[in-house]
Amino acid sequence: MSSPAGASPAAAHPAAAAAAPSPAATIRLTVNGVVHTVQAAPGTPLLYVLRDDLALRGPRFGCGLGQCGACTVHLDGAAVRSCTIPVAAAAGRRITTLEGLGPAGRLHPVQQAFVDEQAMQCGYCVNGWIMTAAALLARTPNPSDAEVRSALAGLICRCGAHMRMLRAVRRAAQSRG
Ligand code: FES
Ligand code: FES
Repeated sequence: MSSPAGASPAAAHPAAAAAAPSPAATIRLTVNGVVHTVQAAPGTPLLYVLRDDLALRGPRFGCGLGQCGACTVHLDGAAVRSCTIPVAAAAGRRITTLEGLGPAGRLHPVQQAFVDEQAMQCGYCVNGWIMTAAALLARTPNPSDAEVRSALAGLICRCGAHMRMLRAVRRAAQSRG
């Protein structure tokens, strides 16, 4: 069915008007220690801005629903799922992605442990595991097995590399003393 002459589709259909995306705003983000200014609708998932505007491809799109962890980043040091965080909510906060996890030019101990244990298969999910484990070790340097399993429980790996990943996290904790 066509719209009445002169009326936009949104005007003709109030429900469509309600669902129309909000206009872009200027948002300042501090990512891996660098301040960026982006133009984005405030409700845009942080993940989209990181990947599409800032070309940071460490965080992955998995489910887009906060259920798999592939998109995990740190927000003020806490592991969060960037597919569920509106970009405006991250303004003024400290965002760290996989690219900025280790010191310049070096791997973070968790990254090194994942390499040493070959703790991945396809690698698609591994961002979530590394970022979540790094946040855990930052707040609990010597976690118990139960604490490691609890912190990582919400992450999904379709390849079934879980046991190698758990070994890698234990190895990273030991390497940090
Ligand atoms: S892509 Fe964000 S939790 Fe799955
Ligand atoms: S290593 Fe393939 S999904 Fe986890």
